[in-house]
Amino acid sequence: MNAVTEKTQPTVAGYRTFELGAFTFMRDEYFVTITWPVKHGRQSHTMSADAFLRALMRDVAWGFFYGVVNFDNVFGTRNLYGKVEFFGGRLNEHYHKAGMSYVEVFDSPVAMKLIKEILADWVNDGFDPFAAPMETGDAAFGEKNGSNLKAIDRFRVATKRMPGLKGDSPLREESNGYSINRAFADVAQDQPEIKAEPGFEDEMHAFNLFAYLSRSDVTWNPSVTSVCKNSLFCPTTEEYILPIIHGNDRVEWFFQMSDEIMWNITDKETGRPRARVLMKAGDVASMPADIGHQGFSKKRSMLLVWENVNPNIVKMHESGELPPYPVEF
Ligand code: PHB
Ligand code: FE
Repeated sequence: MNAVTEKTQPTVAGYRTFELGAFTFMRDEYFVTITWPVKHGRQSHTMSADAFLRALMRDVAWGFFYGVVNFDNVFGTRNLYGKVEFFGGRLNEHYHKAGMSYVEVFDSPVAMKLIKEILADWVNDGFDPFAAPMETGDAAFGEKNGSNLKAIDRFRVATKRMPGLKGDSPLREESNGYSINRAFADVAQDQPEIKAEPGFEDEMHAFNLFAYLSRSDVTWNPSVTSVCKNSLFCPTTEEYILPIIHGNDRVEWFFQMSDEIMWNITDKETGRPRARVLMKAGDVASMPADIGHQGFSKKRSMLLVWENVNPNIVKMHESGELPPYPVEF
């Protein structure tokens, strides 16, 4: 007699199906389908599997990020810092007005554990959610085919001092094997000459940020390269589409360091289109605290994202103490 009854997880095309609160997540060969409860039954929503996994990768890697991570114009997460809200249709005025939206709040570690499991199960061998489509191909699709834990557990180098200074973690540079990306073959690789006064050799350093970024093997993944009080400089290399529509909860600044990015700007609460902004090399723009934005980069480009990590700033915007824009003209 078999006394063991095991709860079997339903699978589709070899992929596990997941539940978080009242949300369900299912993937098949091409798509991810999310469902949530509404007044008369359940609402379902379908996304391309590669787009879903690229967005989920950012939520995992960035710990739910600042403010809202819209996977598309229907589904997403909102960081409540310690807790996290998952929503279907909440920031889409049509779903919301039609009563088809749903919101549920989770303790962040609980939600994080589940989305890491989804990512581990649904990312196939050969698919890298951080890579540009031309570099990872169509490996996201098809029946379950192995996994790519190396790509989704990338070791993040946390710098203790300026990269390159004594006592810092090793700089991921020429020395550890990252090659120059095909889009940055023309980026000079020379390093600055450093002439420190005797006795200050361990205090002074410089490196070629363009050369450093030319070797980045990930896209749309800002890394924190300098911290000055609440001011974070986060350069990143961008190709194809920012996998999320970021709903800001503070002002961000962008400095386009090379090439071009086209940005679609929307209203954060309704999703209504507000602007198109083409940023060319050398352009600087602020992204207000009440918008959503998604970038499109035809050729891999370099972008500096400047973040304010003042923990009180969200409340200051919400209370109206600070306007959503940074400058009064
Ligand atoms: C942003 O939401 O501001 C953002 C996120 C990732 C990037 C660039 C910009 O790579
Ligand atoms: Fe943003």
